[in-house]
Amino acid sequence: MRLQDKRAIITGASSGIGRATALKFATEGAHVILVDVDVNAGQDAAAQIQAKGGRACFIETDVTDEQAVKDMVTQAGEAMGGIDVLMNNAGSSLTEDLLEIDLEAWNADVTLNLTSHFLCTRAALPVMIGNGGGSVISTSSVNGFWAIGEFGYSAAKAALLSFIKNVAVRYGSDGIRANVISPGTIDTEHGGAYWDQKAGGKEKLIKWYPVGRLGKPEDVAHLAVYLASDESSFVSGSMITIDGGLTAGTRLLGEV
Ligand SMILES: NC(=O)c1ccc[n+]([C@@H]2O[C@H](COP(=O)([O-])OP(=O)(O)OC[C@H]3O[C@@H](n4cnc5c(N)ncnc54)[C@H](O)[C@@H]3O)[C@@H](O)[C@H]2O)c1
Repeated sequence: MRLQDKRAIITGASSGIGRATALKFATEGAHVILVDVDVNAGQDAAAQIQAKGGRACFIETDVTDEQAVKDMVTQAGEAMGGIDVLMNNAGSSLTEDLLEIDLEAWNADVTLNLTSHFLCTRAALPVMIGNGGGSVISTSSVNGFWAIGEFGYSAAKAALLSFIKNVAVRYGSDGIRANVISPGTIDTEHGGAYWDQKAGGKEKLIKWYPVGRLGKPEDVAHLAVYLASDESSFVSGSMITIDGGLTAGTRLLGEV
């Protein structure tokens, strides 16, 4: 198994990408701590892993709450006897157009999608360094390098690359690797439902994608397994796009 006895914290693990990653990590032999504000779904995911003989535990935590994050990391580290992997994955787009965003909404977007990565990473790094190092993974988005609206969310996602590169460089000699995953549209409950409500809906959106489909949470989970595993031991400070070719170029060029 590719993550045999790795000890992993995954935030935003109650649904979508985080949940699929938690399930996949467990089948690859990892001990997983699932972190989220959605208690019922998180406990259900942990129970699903346990029912298959995997090791998992849910800890209710708001990743924007500094003290709650510190407490969660302490609890997780004690429960697992260390931390090898931190996947900063909780996130959501909270704002839309620039002129409609007030300061409170902007701050909420940046706090969830950037500051929470800082809080979780700062809390977990001493434990990870103490047990010889590990892998930090932050879920960003193609929104971080492609102008597509959602101003607060996109700016926060772009900033993650700088943050993670600094973690990789500053703590590389302590055995820490740090990388960013940038997904295109992943057909999660919330992501898919969002596009269902937009004009043209999901069918129109699929046409943007050279591979002819949206992503599945499991697509991202597979990449996360690679970045969490020792197979990626020479990969650090990188951003890996997982978007079905969306941002590779534009087919419109062939039409001009
Ligand atoms: N689905 C997509 O199309 C897509 C594309 C690019 C990037 N992403 C990113 O992937 C990540 C996961 O997205 P998803 O589509 O699986 O979303 P999702 O809504 O299915 O899952 C996000 C989870 O984060 C949790 N969460 C939200 N705020 C939290 C908080 N303050 N503390 C703890 N947990 C909190 C939610 O309860 C939820 O379980 C996010 O960072 C998102 O920005 C998603």
